[in-house]
Amino acid sequence: AQSRREAMFIANEWAMNYFEDNLLNTPDGKEIGLSYLYGRGVTQEAIRQFHLGYAIDRGTAMLEAARKKGFNIDVLKKLGLIGTSQQGHDYDRFRGRVIFPILNSSGKVVAFGGRDLKGGIAKYINSPESELYKKSNELYGMYQARSSIVKEDKCYLVEGYLDVIGMWQSGMKNVVASSGTALTDGQIALIHRFTKNVTLIYDGDAAGIKASFRGIDMLLSHYLDVNVLLLPDGDDPDSFARKHTPEEFREYVSKNETDIIKFKAKVLMAEASDNPQRRVEAIRSVIGSLACIPDKVKRDVYIQECSRLMGVSEESIGSATASARATVV
Ligand code: CTP
Ligand code: MN
Ligand code: MN
Ligand code: MN
Ligand code: MN
Repeated sequence: AQSRREAMFIANEWAMNYFEDNLLNTPDGKEIGLSYLYGRGVTQEAIRQFHLGYAIDRGTAMLEAARKKGFNIDVLKKLGLIGTSQQGHDYDRFRGRVIFPILNSSGKVVAFGGRDLKGGIAKYINSPESELYKKSNELYGMYQARSSIVKEDKCYLVEGYLDVIGMWQSGMKNVVASSGTALTDGQIALIHRFTKNVTLIYDGDAAGIKASFRGIDMLLSHYLDVNVLLLPDGDDPDSFARKHTPEEFREYVSKNETDIIKFKAKVLMAEASDNPQRRVEAIRSVIGSLACIPDKVKRDVYIQECSRLMGVSEESIGSATASARATVV
């Protein structure tokens, strides 16, 4: 007998193909969905590679198609494809949206993201967590990226669906997205299966800089080597890719990627300026990150670097890091 999980995978696979067919072969899909994607510079090749789709904006188009196919509607409800109104009527949860299927690293469809096209309140709606989808264990784009991640021995980490596609179209195919949330242990472990080199890519404003600091300690604890790349303020990888040629984008990346610990030390010290209390706070924060580095040699190299960058003796940073480390492990 078919297991529940299998039934869910089959339904999701059908839904992905249904949305793709809507996008490519229906008048609404072509006039609304495809023209939106082309308008944002998404190529046919990327549409194919990422199996992008369109959800027709009729209340029950998907529901009817699923019934015709003989699907158990309860399964589609568990997957968040069909919802039920307070009056007890079933309806399509994704309507009038461009669809980004989320595949797990072995290529099975676990969830969907749907982008609004009409300036509605919810820019994105996403599948709920289910037996197939634990948000904290997936990264968007991992299936398409994994072989490039292994080949380049490096993974770019961006925020959003279209950022993955923008990087991919610019020839940086070793890219995945955390889908706008803070990184989790499970996501880091997933990256670690394929490489130990991660480059975070953020918008170069205060929020982007803060976001880059948030993930540091967890990434370092997992034995990863972490770089950060800031884009010009206001840009995400998708918008940057639209303003530059793939060659310019790749050159920008290779010139501006910097080590995250050095970056953190420099930014915090610059912010603290000549205020002693704030300098102490900055130094303590950097020491907190240094203490997360499990490898002693790597830790010592960074202690040297940070001592130089922050103007504090190696001895005091070293001993403070050692005591902080004792509380980490
Ligand atoms: N996101 C989400 N739900 C939201 C907003 C964002 O799931 N309401 C996730 C999506 O994965 C999105 C990512 O967070 O891709 C980044 O959000 P944002 O920067 O706001 O969107 P973009 O990806 O830049 O999308 P667009 O360029 O179409 O505005
Ligand atoms: Mn397909
Ligand atoms: Mn911003
Ligand atoms: Mn964005
Ligand atoms: Mn964007």
